[in-house]
Amino acid sequence: MFLFQIILYFTIISDLLLCLPIETESIVAPDAYFEDVTVSNQTKPKLTLDEFFNYTTFPFMSFSPTGEYLLYQTQRPSLGNTYYTTSLWLYNIKTMETIQITNEFSSTVTPQWSPNGAFIAFVSHYIWLPNSTTILRKKDTSELLLSFLKLFDYRILLYSVQSNQLVSIPIGDDIPNVLTWSHNDSTIYFSQNRYGSSLWQTNVNPSEQKQYVRIATINRLDLEKDNETFVYEINRIVTVYAHIDELLLVPLEDKLVFTNKPSDVSTSQTNEIYSLDLNNSSNVIRLTNNSRKENILKLSNDGSRVLFTVGVVMENNIDYSYQGLYSLDVTNGNITAILEYPKCQLHNYAHRSDGGVYVLSQCRTEIYVATQKSIGEEWVDLNPDWGTYESIASSSNPNCPLAFVHSSSKKPMEIYCANNTFDLTLAKQITNENKLFAERNLPQTKVYNWTNQDDNTVIEGILHYPPDQFQAENLPLFVLIHGGPKYASINKLEPTFFEWATLAASEGWLVLEPNYRGSSGYGDDFMEEIYGKPLSLAGRDILSGIDQLIADGIVDPSRLAVGGCSFGGSLTNWLITQRDDFKAALSCSGAVDHVSAWGLMDSPVFYTVYLNGTPWQMPHLYQNESPIYQLHKVRAPTHICTGDRDKRVPASQSYMLERGIRALEVPVKLLTFSDEAHGFSQPLSGKIKVREELKWLKKYVPDDAN
Ligand SMILES: *[C@@H]1O[C@H](CO)[C@@H](O)[C@H](O)[C@H]1NC(C)=O
Ligand SMILES: *[C@@H]1O[C@H](CO)[C@@H](O)[C@H](O)[C@H]1NC(C)=O
Ligand SMILES: *[C@@H]1O[C@H](CO)[C@@H](O)[C@H](O)[C@H]1NC(C)=O
Ligand SMILES: *[C@@H]1O[C@H](CO)[C@@H](O)[C@H](O)[C@H]1NC(C)=O
Ligand SMILES: *[C@@H]1O[C@H](CO)[C@@H](O)[C@H](O)[C@H]1NC(C)=O
Ligand SMILES: *[C@@H]1O[C@H](CO)[C@@H](O)[C@H](O)[C@H]1NC(C)=O
Ligand SMILES: *[C@@H]1O[C@H](CO)[C@@H](O)[C@H](O)[C@H]1NC(C)=O
Ligand SMILES: *[C@@H]1O[C@H](CO)[C@@H](O)[C@H](O)[C@H]1NC(C)=O
Ligand SMILES: *[C@@H]1O[C@H](CO)[C@@H](O)[C@H](O)[C@H]1NC(C)=O
Ligand SMILES: *[C@@H]1O[C@H](CO)[C@@H](O)[C@H](O)[C@H]1NC(C)=O
Repeated sequence: MFLFQIILYFTIISDLLLCLPIETESIVAPDAYFEDVTVSNQTKPKLTLDEFFNYTTFPFMSFSPTGEYLLYQTQRPSLGNTYYTTSLWLYNIKTMETIQITNEFSSTVTPQWSPNGAFIAFVSHYIWLPNSTTILRKKDTSELLLSFLKLFDYRILLYSVQSNQLVSIPIGDDIPNVLTWSHNDSTIYFSQNRYGSSLWQTNVNPSEQKQYVRIATINRLDLEKDNETFVYEINRIVTVYAHIDELLLVPLEDKLVFTNKPSDVSTSQTNEIYSLDLNNSSNVIRLTNNSRKENILKLSNDGSRVLFTVGVVMENNIDYSYQGLYSLDVTNGNITAILEYPKCQLHNYAHRSDGGVYVLSQCRTEIYVATQKSIGEEWVDLNPDWGTYESIASSSNPNCPLAFVHSSSKKPMEIYCANNTFDLTLAKQITNENKLFAERNLPQTKVYNWTNQDDNTVIEGILHYPPDQFQAENLPLFVLIHGGPKYASINKLEPTFFEWATLAASEGWLVLEPNYRGSSGYGDDFMEEIYGKPLSLAGRDILSGIDQLIADGIVDPSRLAVGGCSFGGSLTNWLITQRDDFKAALSCSGAVDHVSAWGLMDSPVFYTVYLNGTPWQMPHLYQNESPIYQLHKVRAPTHICTGDRDKRVPASQSYMLERGIRALEVPVKLLTFSDEAHGFSQPLSGKIKVREELKWLKKYVPDDAN
């Protein structure tokens, strides 16, 4: 039920971890994020749809080994909005100059600095079919790429920082997924994944996919500079029957450590950590054996241990006390905890150049930074600018010891350098990719809370007020529900087709983004309380929030609308059966019938966890929690969107919803995006979706307050 990479639940499992460097209770964001409106609102125009969907994100950032440079990636929609352009940039910290290295690289393989800092290695693919460039590009997502496997010829590119030149090394047509340097600048290890059948197709059903054998090779690339030209040699170290996810060198042990990708998403199978002895490649040892996902492998500063994070899982087979940050002794598999924390959600971590670590944790609606001077010492929170810290990197350069990506509802995403590492509010902004957003009259937001009286639980959400109407009353309400459900609406500015509260508020709506039961960042219990009642409990949480907004006079009860994607779409489908005064609904990639969704989706384990079993074990739950059996109560004109290649929540769920609402003679419109999956890959699709949804809201929700 989750959206796109970040909201896919099995990715959530892997990426988001629990930890709590300090008590959650003390992390309370200010009432309004926006107390200082210095520039007159009148001078700033409101954000438009076109502007909203022309945003740059920073998926990757890394210091050179000496700290002289910061390498970063940008991603933005291409001019025609048909694909995302990914570029690599090199920022010189001393001169403050930025140069572009490339806008043609495979962003699925993380670029790597060589140990001496002379080179940056990254991966690119070349298309050798003439005149098909546009089509292939459009399809350049990891999944679709498979069907064009043989059309690609991959290269490792070496960028020389000194000469500003690129060296290109062909590595064949198996999909490279990770590369790592040895301890010197002349050897690179990299892995490539492929299927043991040329008959691979992306559209086969999940059970057929299991028949394809997964194969990965780990290879060694040796480079030599022979009289100004590079000579290279590639040797295969080992072939394994799995797909490799991460790869890391442990130089002290002459070992490569790697994780496998779980081969079957239809079960709750997870990955494990393995080691490969470089002195004896037939010596591959499995180091972990558990039901949790190990992720983000990094070498400890002293080189003796491998650090990793452990993700959220749905099954209660617990091998680690909590989700968190752990370290592994490669020689004996001994695992020790660095950070275990049951309240917040660990998003990422980074080394400190002086020995400790930084962690990024989501507590409620914020993601903040905490640090340990060295492993085992006390955790200290860095004074944050409220909002979201996406990634963080540390260097020994006194002019930029800490870099991070930050955004909040009032500030677009940019990269910053912090000089005083304990006060992030003093950091200097070093990119200006989204300056247009800073020049717009953005909606002001605040955290709003209410109590679900059924069980006296406090629920909170973010309110986005229309520009210049902060704290106004009697406003039209649009409830925008996040997917997941192990995900949260947080204080962040990252425009997408499923997170567009900023745009909706700019169009005059008071937007409520509720963090209903099941959301992350409020503790394990809060996240798991919806097992057995995913739509009814989360639905009650949201409905009681709407009631409170009406009771507080903030919202005009005659102008209510609701919408969301993925699990947020399922909740939308549910809510319009629970309350008959929604004037419009925007249902996107949501489910209406859990039995057919269980049977047709790629990841039925979602249902066996959230509905406590299979359809024949829990028939009453499958029925009671499915909107389809209560559809006769729907009165809200409903706009439905889906992608015809969606394997997570198959498009058939939306077709059923459309058929049902049509039969009730309630206005309904279905928009099916061809060639799109659960997360739309073309920026244009998302833009059209939101454009049409805004039209629907305008058409069915009365303009004037009563
Ligand atoms: C997006 O914004 C950039 C400037 O930030 C501009 O150059 C570009 O033309 C815009 N693209 C579209 C499609 O509007
Ligand atoms: C670089 O490291 C590799 C792998 O450890 C080693 O085989 C090679 O000899 C080293 N090269 C140099 C020039 O030190
Ligand atoms: C290096 O290349 C130059 C020019 O191509 C050539 O004159 C020279 O003999 C070469 N030296 C060696 C050691 O091969
Ligand atoms: C691996 O082999 C190299 C060269 O033979 C040796 O120096 C090194 O100690 C070996 N490493 C281990 C962990 O045995
Ligand atoms: C290499 O590792 C394999 C598997 O552990 C072992 O059977 C073999 O004896 C090792 N070879 C050498 C030369 O140590
Ligand atoms: C992993 O654990 C399972 C069950 O706990 C056990 O059956 C299996 O033998 C273990 N595998 C390894 C390689 O230790
Ligand atoms: C694992 O490491 C921890 C800390 O280094 C140590 O206290 C513990 O005894 C080790 N356990 C085993 C089984 O080696
Ligand atoms: C950061 O602090 C260092 C030493 O405290 C100083 O040398 C440097 O100029 C400062 N840099 C910036 C950008 O303020
Ligand atoms: C709910 O919001 C009110 C008003 O901002 C605040 O005083 C109260 O502490 C909040 N309650 C919780 C549980 O966060
Ligand atoms: C600007 O917005 C603030 C907050 O919404 C409001 O209090 C203020 O009156 C507005 N200023 C103008 C000049 O409209």
